[in-house]
Amino acid sequence: MNIKLAVLASGRGSNFLALIKTIQQNTLKAEINTLLSDREKAHALDIARTHNIPARYIPYDKNNRQTFEEQAVKQIKKQGCDLVILAGFMRLLTPYFIREFAHRILNIHPSLLPSFKGIHAQKQALDYGVKISGCTVHVVTEDMDSGPIIGQRAVHILEEDTEETLSARILEQEHALYPEAIQRYMKRIRKSVYSEQYCLPR
Ligand code: GRF
Repeated sequence: MNIKLAVLASGRGSNFLALIKTIQQNTLKAEINTLLSDREKAHALDIARTHNIPARYIPYDKNNRQTFEEQAVKQIKKQGCDLVILAGFMRLLTPYFIREFAHRILNIHPSLLPSFKGIHAQKQALDYGVKISGCTVHVVTEDMDSGPIIGQRAVHILEEDTEETLSARILEQEHALYPEAIQRYMKRIRKSVYSEQYCLPR
């Protein structure tokens, strides 16, 4: 049975596009039922339209985050979904949204968590001087970039790396990691005797 996905994205949408491609190649057995964005000009919205994926821009008011989230929850439930996938979604979700889809929201982050949480993770890694960084897919909990880890890929940092060159190599790994992590996580949920209650991956 295909995994039903809802994707939230704020920007260029390369992870979203990578998911679409792996679905087309049948490597990821899933369907993307909806794409939501908090930015009207997000390239992810164009990608969704090009691929006939129902897409919607929902304005985000940082003084009233629940308005965005209530509309998003409504839309996601209407379209049906097993997992909510954050793909470059640049907003912090409130406990309200996280509890609505408890243990069913995944995020991808461009570092080897728990190192370098938050924004500019690649620059943080370079500034710190680590020799290996990478990317992580994790379950979203109420603490930022802190939920249980589903998968990681490592990237060696080169002497000559800049934020741009390192980000590009990590991004390549993100595109491979996200589909495999989604498939793996969904398999665990389906196998679990607790699947009715939505289980944690360990
Ligand atoms: C990626 O680096 C992802 O790890 C981070 O935001 C970026 C989104 O890129 N959360 P894209 O919009 O998927 O191209």
